[in-house]
Amino acid sequence: MTIAAILAGGTGSRMGGGIPKQYLPVGGRPVIVHTAEKFTAHPQVDCVLVLAPTAWLEHTRDCLAEHHSVTVIQGGETRNDTIRTALDWIAATCGTDEDHVILTHDAVRPFVTNQIISNNIAAVHTHGACVTAIPAIDTIVKSKDNAFAGEIPPRGELYLAQTPQSFRCNKLRELMNSLTPEEAHALTDATCIYALRNEPVFLVPGEARNIKITYPFDMKVAQAILEEEAACDA
Ligand code: CTP
Repeated sequence: MTIAAILAGGTGSRMGGGIPKQYLPVGGRPVIVHTAEKFTAHPQVDCVLVLAPTAWLEHTRDCLAEHHSVTVIQGGETRNDTIRTALDWIAATCGTDEDHVILTHDAVRPFVTNQIISNNIAAVHTHGACVTAIPAIDTIVKSKDNAFAGEIPPRGELYLAQTPQSFRCNKLRELMNSLTPEEAHALTDATCIYALRNEPVFLVPGEARNIKITYPFDMKVAQAILEEEAACDA
């Protein structure tokens, strides 16, 4: 089974404004609706799970009321807790079949394409784990003191991770269970867990348009991308 877990449990503190960014409108519809539709429309996705903040559960269900194939449940304290909640739901609802795969996707990346989803599904079945990524455009500078430039890794070896990030459910559960509390605290996403345990994660080509809405400026970019898509469809 191929299950899409749309991670919408965050509060959007960098966006500000009181309403979590996944509920802000782009082109007249909430970001989360655009995102969910990319997965409900994909023929190889069997099940779409949306994980939302407790206070926004009813609102999320209302937004997605037309999408009968979507299940909305409560997310977790951190992004990884939200992924863990999705894994628990899958085990309880769909069982622990070895073939179950989870596509974890940020609710605030509404411009994921059909091609990226298809490539994730193919890659996770072949390689067991994959991360969507694009080559780094800018030179990336490390700084330990946040004042002076330290190491500057060769740009040709650097990628920017996007989502979906996809995994065999049982393996991800096993790796998450193996983390110490300190490791669990330090890791920002599931791909980091694989990297920490030296488990291979295949790179799936992403796209520049697959932006993550984080700051108010990103809402303007999102609006522009949507208008460009509408113009192409017309
Ligand atoms: N996310 C989640 N559960 C959490 C925290 C984050 O499902 N406890 C989701 C967010 O809703 C978002 C995605 O993970 O779709 C990427 O996280 P980020 O952009 O950091 O979102 P927020 O945590 O909402 O934003 P901020 O860091 O600015 O507070």
